[in-house]
Amino acid sequence: MPHNQMLKTRSYISHDAQWLEELMNKDWGGLPLVIRGEKYYPPQLDGIIAENEKGVAGFLFFDIRGKDCEIIVFEVFDKFKGTGTILLDKLKDIAKERHCSRIYLMTTNDNLDALRFYQKRGLHICGVHVDSVKISRKIKPTIGMVGDYDIPVRDEIDLEFIL
Ligand SMILES: CC(C)(COP(=O)(O)OP(=O)(O)OC[C@H]1O[C@@H](n2cnc3c(N)ncnc32)[C@H](O)[C@@H]1OP(=O)(O)O)[C@@H](O)C(=O)NCCC(=O)NCCS
Repeated sequence: MPHNQMLKTRSYISHDAQWLEELMNKDWGGLPLVIRGEKYYPPQLDGIIAENEKGVAGFLFFDIRGKDCEIIVFEVFDKFKGTGTILLDKLKDIAKERHCSRIYLMTTNDNLDALRFYQKRGLHICGVHVDSVKISRKIKPTIGMVGDYDIPVRDEIDLEFIL
């Protein structure tokens, strides 16, 4: 059977709150999430949950403001097998239905896997904020100093997709 044939997406519901909180603590340094000084609480946002026969396979939370749709947090548990692409495609459909003109997000300089993933899926770098992670770290000291591949976490990089 091809991988991900069993994958389905659905909306986040309050029933998901407990596993989500555990994951935010384990993988994201707890809540709030901080993006360039602004605090975000995913349980209060719209979310898409991907599920397969084993349970939750990934999630994507987003925030629509006017014509902009921002990805706030996006994680897949068993990576590089197509789940992220399905979640991103679903978000593109939702953003179009809700009359958005672009999807955008911020990631950090160490997140090479995400930079590769997004750029191969049509998102373009539209901003680089040199050394701006230190501003977010003042609000959220749990943001690590060293990230993926042992790269120092310093810069915030914006990517966008025009719908
Ligand atoms: C970024 C993320 C959500 C993508 O989801 P995913 O399910 O792994 O992505 P898919 O399997 O649909 O796509 C795989 C793509 O990942 C990218 N990729 C990056 N590093 C890779 C690696 N080491 N091996 C394979 N693919 C890799 C490639 O672009 C690949 O696409 P390709 O097959 O066309 O080359 C996921 O990797 C993840 O959860 N990362 C950790 C959390 C995170 O960084 N979230 C985003 C923060 S903004």
